[in-house]
Amino acid sequence: MSDSPTEAGGEKGDGEAARIAELREVLNHHIYLYYEKDDPEISDEEYDQLFAELQALEGKNPELITGDSPTQRVGAPASASFAPVEHAVPMLSLANARTEEELTAWESRIRNHLARRDVDPGEITYVTEPKIDGLAISLTYEEGVLVRGATRGDGRVGEDVTLNIETIATVPKTIDDAPPLIEVRGEVYLPLADFAALNQKRVDEGLPAFANPRNSAAGSIRQNDPQAAAERPLAVWSYGIGATDGVSFATHSEEIEWLREHGFHVNPDIETHDSIGQVLERCHWWLDRRDQLDFEIDGVVIKVDETRLWAELGNAGREPRWAIAWKFPPTTATTKLREIEWNVGRTGHLVPWALLEPVRVGGVTVSTATLHNEEDLERKDVRAGDEVVVLRAGDVIPQVVSALPQKRPKGAVKPVPPKVCPACGTEVIKPEDSVFSICPNRSGCPGQIFQHIKHFVSRGAMDIEGLGEKQVARFLEQGLISDVADIYSLTQEQLEALERMGKTSSANLIAEIEKSREVPFPRVLFALGLIGVGPATAEVLADEFGSIERLAEADPERIEQAEGIGPIMARQIAESLADQRTWEIIERLKAAGLKMELAEDERRPEGGPLEGKTVVLTGTLPDLTRDEAGAMVKRAGGKVTGSVSKKTDFVVAGESAGSKLEKAEKLGVPVLDREGLDRLLAGDLTADD
Ligand code: IVH
Repeated sequence: MSDSPTEAGGEKGDGEAARIAELREVLNHHIYLYYEKDDPEISDEEYDQLFAELQALEGKNPELITGDSPTQRVGAPASASFAPVEHAVPMLSLANARTEEELTAWESRIRNHLARRDVDPGEITYVTEPKIDGLAISLTYEEGVLVRGATRGDGRVGEDVTLNIETIATVPKTIDDAPPLIEVRGEVYLPLADFAALNQKRVDEGLPAFANPRNSAAGSIRQNDPQAAAERPLAVWSYGIGATDGVSFATHSEEIEWLREHGFHVNPDIETHDSIGQVLERCHWWLDRRDQLDFEIDGVVIKVDETRLWAELGNAGREPRWAIAWKFPPTTATTKLREIEWNVGRTGHLVPWALLEPVRVGGVTVSTATLHNEEDLERKDVRAGDEVVVLRAGDVIPQVVSALPQKRPKGAVKPVPPKVCPACGTEVIKPEDSVFSICPNRSGCPGQIFQHIKHFVSRGAMDIEGLGEKQVARFLEQGLISDVADIYSLTQEQLEALERMGKTSSANLIAEIEKSREVPFPRVLFALGLIGVGPATAEVLADEFGSIERLAEADPERIEQAEGIGPIMARQIAESLADQRTWEIIERLKAAGLKMELAEDERRPEGGPLEGKTVVLTGTLPDLTRDEAGAMVKRAGGKVTGSVSKKTDFVVAGESAGSKLEKAEKLGVPVLDREGLDRLLAGDLTADD
């Protein structure tokens, strides 16, 4: 990432040249943090501002533009740890518009450019789509088989991340009626609910939380271990097509339709419009919806529909003239940090919080923001009294990004992490490998109990509507409950006796509690809040063990055999279930009628020929779809997983099997063909054959 800022410096000998040099250096640093480290220090808005300033200065001083200026390239060079992939069609970036005027100016530029080339486009049709805040990827299919997944890299050369891409459920591994070559482009992202769960899990494990879904998606896709990537539930929205052979499209709408018909995950709200006025209306429509989506968007992409015009319009530097991004107004704001407070989380971790002077960010008023953890706080050097930058991204918790030390009041002191738990006064412990101090009073700390109950009743867990944070706090205070199991002995009379609780709301809450007894076992397991057990892990454990008893009987080595569970988590799960108090609560929940095992029809049959065996399917089988073959394996008691690892017992490989086959051969996992699958299902084949 070495630019040569000094080159542009001295020569002109004026302030602008020096500023250009400085901006390049600063931008390169942030590009490095963003793309290479997946750990930015400044918000996108701040970055864009610096970038725009550089662009403007270079516009005034074109003789100072160098090929390696951040304005002349896209993103970051490919990392050395992945094989380079040259993009047959470069992966471009987008120009930004923030106002109506900028959007209209874009249309004028298009018309002028076409007029100069004697092209009369008549009425131009535009397509609008959400600008997903994730990571651009390219998916190459040869003869209908996914052969390569690559990141954007610097736009010309990206990184080969095929193994990680293959673990993403919304990426078709094969497509029907495919041309000889088609390259699909899209954005990898992490759904917000999964992001929240992933961060919770990281915090539970003493790891630092990811700053935002984009960074965690980027971090996941560039992992060296596909198994680890598979544990993160990434998804892809496909939005375009790159290189092709044997197929062409007259409009972008046709591309989108093709993608949809061929099984790609395409946003359902993509629309066409006949005027910029309509486009602008749609942009505001997206802005209004932004916070209700399960993924982050940072704007709207507007594309000219007709591909004939794309060729006429061409690119300006790294940006196509036929597309533009309408960026949402900033979601950062600065305000004064009044105080730093420490909260104890569900698993005893102490988390620093900023109490702020209320400030509007992205349409809501924010008065508290997370400071993540001790280490983060130390690194950012944030102090009470500081002016701070607050970032609000989607519906995730607002966070303090940085302090403005130049505005620091005299005498502002560095915060000191507490030595005792703020909720119960117990002396905290600070494990060496953790960025958190921990309150060890797991079953007696009122702070932890409160968080635990809040988690238990939350959406995704027992989902007891009407039992929100305030109610939980009140019930605890009134002594109506002191743990999660007490919820199931609440009576209507008790509730009616409370202030502001009428007959109807009491009856409604009792009905909600009643209903939660039907919540399936995997969600109950998640609701229990064992350290490290998020929704996905709970599913895996439920599937693997079938009941809480069987899980509790298993030793760490056995738990580790479950898909995606490492030794640390396995030990933590076993330890939590061995805890007498936890087990007592489980017993009481069971007595209250909660589901502590899978229903008959959800269970994998016992005693099948594939019991305890893990199978990976890859390539195309002559007479079966992947789903059909998978169902057959499951009926025989086996488990189907997405990626090959040491835990895989068999790989069934069909036509055009790719990297999974290679991996199986490398790891010495037995590989079967279609006939082998039949023998396996019939039980006349074992791993030793
Ligand atoms: S089109 C030539 N469509 O935004 C057009 N990009 O700033 C470039 N992005 O690298 C891509 N959603 O990572 C396009 N619906 C969408 C998009 C989208 C997100 C990202 C993509 C691209 C970046 C450009």
